[in-house]
Amino acid sequence: MQILHTVSDIRHCVQNWNNAGERVAFVPTMGNLHAGHLQLVREAKRHADKVVVSIFVNPTQFGINEDFADYPRTETQDCEWLAAEGCDLVFLPNVETIYSPNAQTSVNVSQVSKNYCGASRTGHFDGVATVVCKLFNIVQPHVALFGLKDFQQFVVIQTLVRDLHLPIELIGVPTVRELDGLAMSSRNSYLSEEERAFAPKIYQILQQSHEHLKAGKTIFDVEIYAISALTQNGFRLDYFKIARRSDLQPATLNDDELIMLVAVKLGKTRLIDNLWFNK
Ligand code: PAF
Repeated sequence: MQILHTVSDIRHCVQNWNNAGERVAFVPTMGNLHAGHLQLVREAKRHADKVVVSIFVNPTQFGINEDFADYPRTETQDCEWLAAEGCDLVFLPNVETIYSPNAQTSVNVSQVSKNYCGASRTGHFDGVATVVCKLFNIVQPHVALFGLKDFQQFVVIQTLVRDLHLPIELIGVPTVRELDGLAMSSRNSYLSEEERAFAPKIYQILQQSHEHLKAGKTIFDVEIYAISALTQNGFRLDYFKIARRSDLQPATLNDDELIMLVAVKLGKTRLIDNLWFNK
């Protein structure tokens, strides 16, 4: 497995693969890898001849009071795991490589960035869209894979690929969960032992909400149920919403493909999760 740091080295390597007619898959990450990321790499290998993973803690997607400085950096361990999974190339740029000091361009996916995480994390999705666009331009993969735990992020990236006519196939990979149901996330490492034991309640409440819908409760009633269950269990609610899966607009009676989206704080840790269902 090669580890490269510059744009020209990445381009050169990928160009050689392209010249040999090889298909390239790309998995962008911020490192501190867990089983969810490794699942993305495994899936990437099923769709391409070569797999590129980037590890870059992107400063522009963190708000001023967020955890950019504390975000766990574990590149050595990450690279060992990636090599063991059969990853071909790791792109490990520094901040100046991605953001030249005189950079003036950013990408804003206006509508789908607005609500949910976009409402509580101002500028977050502009940072995500900008860095993903830059990484796509550097790596120029045929296919890119993202975890569906960050479902709004996936819709933002789908929208930018569509709007900018990027010739990249996107694949969303289902959330990987701990045995007790907690969605895997690099931020789970912030949880205290007590909080970690409590955190699976989020997924339990999503599942119970789904049961209520199947039993005939209205979307409105289920949203009220979930919000009160989350807050009574001591989570600080950011949002709970049932939305249309295609564009994250509030669900209406005519919509069949839906998703429940939730974000809460437990202690100082922000956790998100979701559950897909069809009516
Ligand atoms: O999901 C993530 O890890 C990040 O938001 C991403 C897509 C790598 C962009 O920095």
